[in-house]
Amino acid sequence: MDTVVSGIRSTGQLHLGNYFGALRNFIKMQHDARCFFFIADYHSLTTHPDPRILHDNVRNVLAEYLAAGLDPSVATIYVQSDVPQVAELSMLLSMHAPVGELERTASFKDKIRKHADNVNAGLLTYPVLMAADILQHKADKVPVGKDQEQHLEMTRVYARRFNSFYGVEYFSEPAAYNFGTELVKVPGLDGSGKMGKSEGNGLYLSDSDADIRKKVMRAVSDSGPTAPGEPMSEPVANLFTLLKLVSAPSTVEHFAASYNACEIRYGDLKKQLAEDIVAVVAPIRERIEAVKADEAFLRRVTADGAEKARESSAKTLAQVREIMGIRRF
Ligand code: TYM
Repeated sequence: MDTVVSGIRSTGQLHLGNYFGALRNFIKMQHDARCFFFIADYHSLTTHPDPRILHDNVRNVLAEYLAAGLDPSVATIYVQSDVPQVAELSMLLSMHAPVGELERTASFKDKIRKHADNVNAGLLTYPVLMAADILQHKADKVPVGKDQEQHLEMTRVYARRFNSFYGVEYFSEPAAYNFGTELVKVPGLDGSGKMGKSEGNGLYLSDSDADIRKKVMRAVSDSGPTAPGEPMSEPVANLFTLLKLVSAPSTVEHFAASYNACEIRYGDLKKQLAEDIVAVVAPIRERIEAVKADEAFLRRVTADGAEKARESSAKTLAQVREIMGIRRF
């Protein structure tokens, strides 16, 4: 049976990028694999969240995991910082992570460009901690969105490097995974780039139906095709990408045909897109508040999950220490 590991940072509300890139895969995979899904609160510390809201952010993501259909009776659901063994494994792996390689990581370069005032060591070693998250459970598959592809490649490099340096066949190489197809990049509604919390272009699992309709109707498009076969502008291609994720194939075909015939009315496309997004989000949103309020349930889920995850992590850590020559007197 495959082992599946993945996490989402505790930045508050999950958006459709998190859902289609990651969470939907977690839900689909949980019955057929040994699954570990966590909330990456250590990773979220790189941006210095207010300590008074960190816990609520973890609670929100946990509630959204459960409301979306993650089942703690089949998957191990835990909070990253409840398994401090991962920090030790990360430290051990960092001994084989050249700084130059870390400095060349696309996500690091992007962060230092956007936040030159906060280039901390945690940001630099972010991919090492991520590799420790994955390797501690000896994962085979890691469901993630397209933006995490390079981090997965680095995880494989660390696994290979560890094996070859110590002359062992210990870690296998985990693969980035999206159920049945290629990794996805969910676009935002602002016409360019991916959907993200800090981009302010997102649709959230906690959004009301009215919010969703309002945001979709305001999404950037263009002035319409003028000649058949004309290539699509990026904003319109993004609307079609969203449509493909949420709508029936016949709906996508209908709007593609009207685009190609230069007869498309973006207002109609957006109305349909908004309704199809509402159909995905509303049932999840309706469960979030009830789950969030059930303190005893959240405590039970995270306590059970932490225990199982610590057991799996501690086993790996003991073997890694042994391989690296750390022994008890
Ligand atoms: P994070 O918290 O930024 O995002 C969580 C997951 O959501 C996916 N995602 C997207 N997918 C498609 N389109 C988008 N617009 C979009 N935005 C976000 C991400 O690809 C990711 O799968 N480093 C990770 C968290 C992490 C992790 C791990 C993941 C820590 N340790 C170990 C897997 C395994 C992150 O920052 O994701």
